[in-house]
Amino acid sequence: MSAGTGIASFRATLDGEECEVEYREGETLLDCMLAEGLDPAFQCMDAHCGTCMVKLVAGEIKMRKNKVLSKRDLEQDYVLLCQSIPLTDDVWVDCDG
Ligand code: FES
Repeated sequence: MSAGTGIASFRATLDGEECEVEYREGETLLDCMLAEGLDPAFQCMDAHCGTCMVKLVAGEIKMRKNKVLSKRDLEQDYVLLCQSIPLTDDVWVDCDG
């Protein structure tokens, strides 16, 4: 086991399907979903377009940076998939929300 977060996976709802996605240490949720062949919406991968905004249904994440979400978005648990690193092993994001 690595000395990282120890988080093995997270859940994502995408196009009405609930997926268990393998978490790859040090990568963002978006990177992990793409690595599994999933196709969540994204564009810039740099925290400024907002295309990858999803709702965090459960768990805790940390965003590397955020140039687009408002305080209100954050209060409503919206996160940027392209910047999110899971902090807990129960992360669940809803890409359809
Ligand atoms: S892809 Fe643009 S903010 Fe995430």
